[in-house]
Parts: sequence; C-alpha cells; structure tokens
Amino acid sequence: MADKLRVGVIGAGRWAQRAHLPGFTRSPFSEVVAICDIKGELAEERAREFDIPDVYTDSEKMIKRKDIDVIDVCTRASPGEPDNHEKLVFASLEGGKHCLCEKPVAHDFRNTWKAHRLAERKGLKTKVGLTFRYAPAMMYMNHLIEEGFVGKPFIFNGYEQNSQFLSPDEPLTKRDLIPPTESEEIKVSSLEGYGAPIIDLSLMFMSSDLTRVVGLMKNFVPYRTDFDGTKIRTNIDDGDIYIGEYESGAICSIQSSYVTVGNYPGLEARVYGSEGALICRLVEERGVCQTLHKAKPDAVEFEPVEIPERFFPPGYMKGEPWPSLFYSNLVHDFMREIHEGGDANQGNFAQSAKVQEIINAVELSHRRNKWISLPLS
Ligand SMILES: NC(=O)c1ccc[n+]([C@@H]2O[C@H](COP(=O)([O-])OP(=O)(O)OC[C@H]3O[C@@H](n4cnc5c(N)ncnc54)[C@H](O)[C@@H]3O)[C@@H](O)[C@H]2O)c1
Repeated sequence: MADKLRVGVIGAGRWAQRAHLPGFTRSPFSEVVAICDIKGELAEERAREFDIPDVYTDSEKMIKRKDIDVIDVCTRASPGEPDNHEKLVFASLEGGKHCLCEKPVAHDFRNTWKAHRLAERKGLKTKVGLTFRYAPAMMYMNHLIEEGFVGKPFIFNGYEQNSQFLSPDEPLTKRDLIPPTESEEIKVSSLEGYGAPIIDLSLMFMSSDLTRVVGLMKNFVPYRTDFDGTKIRTNIDDGDIYIGEYESGAICSIQSSYVTVGNYPGLEARVYGSEGALICRLVEERGVCQTLHKAKPDAVEFEPVEIPERFFPPGYMKGEPWPSLFYSNLVHDFMREIHEGGDANQGNFAQSAKVQEIINAVELSHRRNKWISLPLS
C-alpha cells in the first residue's frame, strides 16, 4: 500500500514491546519510522528488534519532525512526573500529530477534554489505550448488542481484577500504580489503572451516560517490601466497588482490584436486557484468553458463542498472547480511521474524558461518603 502513516513511538518499555509495536508492524496502514526513550540503550534495542530506522532520547526533537503523522505515547509516569502522558499529548497535538496515548491521558477529566478540543480544532484523531474494547470477543458482543440481541439493556456488571499485587513482597516496580504513601487519605490507584477499561466497556455496551454513582475504595495490603527489604506504607486503593445509574434508567456495578486471586487480564462484562443476556470473559485460563456466552428468556442456560474471523486483527495466529492480539486490533482500527478519513474515531480522548470523569466522581463519593451526580461540571 502506498502512503503508509508514519509513526513515532515515545516509550520503548515492556508494553511498547508486547502490544504497541507488534500492532503498528502488522497494520498495512502504518510504519514506525522513529522511537524515543530517555533510556537511549532501550530505544536502540527496540529499534533493532522492530527494524525502526531512527532513535531519539528527546521526544521534542522527534515530535518536531515534519514527516511524522502519528505520535504514540507509551511512557510510564513516575512519582516525580505524574502528568507525563498529559505533557507529551499536548506537545504532540500542538505539533499537528494524530495521537495514541496510554491511559490515563490526564488524571483530571477536564484536561482530557481540553486535549480532545485541541485535537478537534486541529482536525486530528486521537485514541486511548482502552485495550479491551478491541478484544475480538468484546467487539462481537458489542455487535450483538447493536443488533438487538439483549433488547433494552437493564443491568451491567463488570470486573477488572487479578492478583498482580496480592503479595506484599511483590517488588514495587510500578510506582505509578503503587507509590509509597504514608498519607491518611487513601490514594486512587486500581480504580484508575484497572477500572478505566471496564468503565469504558460499560459505557459502550449500555449506550447511555451515568447520572450518579456511589463507591468505596479499600486498601487491603497496607505495607509492601521495597527493593532494599524495608517495609513501606502504601495507602492506595487496591480494591474498589461502585454502583451507578444511567440516563436510560439502567444500572451497573463495577469492581476493580489487583489483589483478587485470578489470572490476567481479568475482565468480565455482563449485560442483561429485556430479550437476552451476554457474558464475555477475558481471563486467560488453560490457554484460552476470551470467551463469550449468550442466553435467551426461552433458553436460559448460557451457551458458548463462536467469534467470527472478521473480528480478529491482520496476521492473527491461533494461541497468540492477548496483549498483541487485542492491541493489534486497537492500532489497526486507529490507523484505518485516520487513513479512511471521515468522522469514525472510537475510544478517543472524548471517551477517555467520560471514563476519567466517572473515576473522579467515584473518588469524590468515597471521600464525601455519599452519592455523586454526573456530569461533574
Ligand atoms: N492498556 C493496557 O492494557 C496497558 C497494559 C500495560 C501497560 N499499559 C500502560 O503503558 C504504559 C507503559 O507501560 P510499560 O509497562 O511499557 O512501562 P515501562 O516502564 O516498561 O516503559 C516505559 C518507558 O517510558 C520511558 N519514558 C518515560 N518518560 C519518558 C519521556 N518523557 N520520554 C521518553 N521516554 C520516557 C521510560 O524510560 C520507560 O522505558 C504505562 O502508561 C502503562 O500504564 C497499558
């Protein structure tokens, strides 16, 4: 194909290697022309692995390049730079680039809206790493809901959970998720890190905005072992639950946690409606990473649903690991949306702002011990 979109990737870490770069490599609409990481050697290593011609340690220099169409922000924030994604996103959009960003774009939903409006003014498309709406089983579930399989949706139940940080001795590699904190006030963690994708799915499946939420955050593992063996206080939300009501009158319950026994990625989405129900599980068990089941009022035993081939990404191989399988769909979808033009732009910054607003509202509900009405502003 002529005129491939030219992509520059910022962040050459684990997720870039396992999900983003395999995705860009497989989409016929894109080529990665540059990679940037403040750790130069790591950027060099990824460049060799994925055949990327140019390497940078300074993202500004890469963003300034006129021949780059898309910037991919795949960095990890640190306690010293918590708004790392937000800064890189604004720089990329100001530089006139379409932008894919890992979640969250910004911790405050208002700043995600600002980024969305900037992109709109400049005629740019955006996409957020809301990985699980691109799992073939979730995509097919959405298709069935749009076709009317469940009728009018009544109830959504969602989980995103696994036991990634159940052990207090798990090394604290991911300090953006689990920062040491002595503070009396619990810090939002799982609700944002794990909650975002299942909140996104709940909005997509229920096709309605939330009008109110009430929720709780809990710290189940209060002390964790640091690299030097000392115990440090980590007063973060490692498990949370909220319930909510939609404009349509439907209701939901959502739970997120990384101290609940179970495997990656650990999502379950259930939609119950007037004419049927669907349950999708993305939990890797005995070599299978996605299942979809359906039931009808006259056949209430849930039965497995086969996912049609058209919901799988280019170059799909049976048994492929879920990060590259789901993310290749995400990247290919974004590249196609830009390539084809028009208005199509699912899972963009506007959607991420709505998700972040719910996260901010649940946090408020916990702190004020009451229901919170939406929208917040
Ligand atoms: N959507 C998902 O399902 C999913 C899954 C895993 C990780 N993630 C997200 O992906 C992002 C990356 O995660 P990871 O596991 O690859 O982290 P990582 O720590 O392995 O890699 C991040 C890299 O970013 C680099 N970096 C940080 N700031 C930079 C800057 N200003 N300029 C250039 N490079 C910079 C770091 O040096 C590091 O090499 C995180 O935001 C994480 O939350 C998303």
